[in-house]
Amino acid sequence: MNEHVYVPPIKIQGIKTKLVPLIRECVCLEPGAVWREPFMGSGVVGFNIEPHLAVFSDINPHIINFYNYIKEGRITHCLVRDFLESEGRRLEDGDENFYYIVRDRFNSKHDPLDFLFLNRSCFNGMIRFNRNYEFNVPYGHKPLRFSKAYITKIVNQVAHIECLLEKHDWSFLCQPFEESIGAARESDFIYCDPPYIGRHVDYYDSWNEDTEVKLHSALTDSHAKYMVSTWHHNDYRANEYISRIWPECNVITKEHFYHVGAREKNRRPMVEALLTNYTVTGDNQLWRKCTQSSMDNALIP
Ligand SMILES: C[S@@+](CC[C@H](N)C(=O)[O-])C[C@H]1O[C@@H](n2cnc3c(N)ncnc32)[C@H](O)[C@@H]1O
Repeated sequence: MNEHVYVPPIKIQGIKTKLVPLIRECVCLEPGAVWREPFMGSGVVGFNIEPHLAVFSDINPHIINFYNYIKEGRITHCLVRDFLESEGRRLEDGDENFYYIVRDRFNSKHDPLDFLFLNRSCFNGMIRFNRNYEFNVPYGHKPLRFSKAYITKIVNQVAHIECLLEKHDWSFLCQPFEESIGAARESDFIYCDPPYIGRHVDYYDSWNEDTEVKLHSALTDSHAKYMVSTWHHNDYRANEYISRIWPECNVITKEHFYHVGAREKNRRPMVEALLTNYTVTGDNQLWRKCTQSSMDNALIP
């Protein structure tokens, strides 16, 4: 399994960095097929799969703008270095006041470089907008936020995107999933990572049973091969929507751990699932094929 994972410059809650090796193993991309990713978020999945033809889309315009600016050469890794060095110095001098100056500036002008700055200095690298579409995440309070090493890391992440865009034919569209999936052809491959139901975090990120049902219908109508990321179970509950909304899908699961607070004993297991409308071949110790009926036994006692 190829474990190397490239991390993109924009971070988002629910980023699938840890699942990339598994997803890479399980996708079914025929030569010449278009990769469609209607919930691109950070883009970490498609950027690592590296299809030659791809349509990345998201309902959040700031994510899409950021990548279109790079594609059009309006943001380059050199510009990013200059910008983060100068704004990083101002942050050091002005501390959190300066963070809020940039946040106000972004909320009135929507400059993608300000978006990057906020994303990389806000609390927990979150993306969250209020009902007026204003970015509202508070300051992350890390001293020397934009150190030389941190800026170089971000600059390299942007330079990597520039290389990928030179090699491949990729577009970035701001649109709801219905539009993106509605434009798919049977030969396309659609990877979906919608927000998890009930974990609403921001105005661009609401999700409920209705939208999950609409996603299922749109994918079925497309006749394309698809893969959907979702959660399978944790200590307390199993994801009942898998058997209710996706009964015909194959289910692949992988356990990962997350921390509640800093203590090692508070390490909790969460099982992630990939739902596919095709059979994934091969076998691997890192994942498990489930049957839909095994959902009933999913809860760990
Ligand atoms: C869980 S995140 C995707 C994370 C991504 N796979 C990653 O690894 O970074 C879900 C994304 O779906 C987008 N989104 C939410 N509702 C949407 C909709 N109705 N249509 C298109 N995108 C939507 C959000 O803006 C967010 O970027």
